[in-house]
Amino acid sequence: MNRRTAAIEPTLVLGGTGKIGRRVVERLTARGLPVRIGSRSGEPRFDWEDRSTWNPVLEGVGSAYVAHYGDAIPGAAETLGSFAELAVESGVPRLVLLSGRGEEEAERAERAVRDSGAELTILRSTWFAQNFSEDYWREQVQGNEVALPAADTPEPFVDADDIADVAVAALTDSRHVGELYELTGPRLLTFAEAVLEISRAVGREVRYLPISGEDFAAVAAEQGVPSEVVEMLTVLFGEVLDGRNARLADGVQRALGRQPRDFSDYARGAAATGIWNARVTRAA
Ligand SMILES: NC(=O)c1ccc[n+]([C@@H]2O[C@H](COP(=O)([O-])OP(=O)(O)OC[C@H]3O[C@@H](n4cnc5c(N)ncnc54)[C@H](OP(=O)(O)O)[C@@H]3O)[C@@H](O)[C@H]2O)c1
Repeated sequence: MNRRTAAIEPTLVLGGTGKIGRRVVERLTARGLPVRIGSRSGEPRFDWEDRSTWNPVLEGVGSAYVAHYGDAIPGAAETLGSFAELAVESGVPRLVLLSGRGEEEAERAERAVRDSGAELTILRSTWFAQNFSEDYWREQVQGNEVALPAADTPEPFVDADDIADVAVAALTDSRHVGELYELTGPRLLTFAEAVLEISRAVGREVRYLPISGEDFAAVAAEQGVPSEVVEMLTVLFGEVLDGRNARLADGVQRALGRQPRDFSDYARGAAATGIWNARVTRAA
């Protein structure tokens, strides 16, 4: 074993199997840095809902990337604050927190984590582009119709790869301590325009259909999305798409010294993986 690597304390990556967390894990690992994944499938197991699992994941780590599975879920702020306090008490003061832009609950969570006295970097992110390819909206793209309760408000979708790059920069360079990075892509797009970009990238018609919050909640529940997540998403669509986030921010540029990736590059790259190939209906 490499002696230098063996001496480095691992970085705890909470949500290390999720859209951003797994990219953070990949990047740290590619640099030869040791990582511990904190999730219900990690070893040791970590569960936000079971505090007896918190101490074991903090043991022996040097820093932590902190992402709750739903920071806008009521009560998440208190949970995140308690975890941060425990981390600081356990000798893990260096925290990088993923937060949501324009979300009241997420900002409450940021304050709770900051109050712990952690050496903190906050990544306040807008909607991830990868929601269309790695989460609930993927099946809708496969089915050629994306139905969401978002009207004409433009949104500066940000690429998950950029968020992960900023997270890794913050975890590995103390110059980012105390920074709050608002992370957006380089361009404002309505949901209809984003779906049109996807449609062009996959080379077939994918339509965008604006629907009501009630219809969205009913369909998401039918598709098996957990009820607290349905509730959170419905609130978020109403809250953050009122125009408050319809502006670009420079967090990626400030943290990395380069431009964020454009949505069309994301759409072309995702289409090339085949992730949006149309669903094939088999005859019975
Ligand atoms: N999606 C967006 O556009 C967006 C934008 C801004 C902010 N955010 C915020 O970013 C955070 C992460 O969102 P995401 O979309 O990246 O998440 P995600 O891809 O759905 O990943 C969730 C992660 O949390 C883990 N997890 C789920 N329940 C858990 C539990 N009870 N205890 C411990 N770990 C649990 C999952 O792993 P296991 O299943 O293995 O436990 C997984 O690693 C959320 O707070 C979200 O509100 C999201």
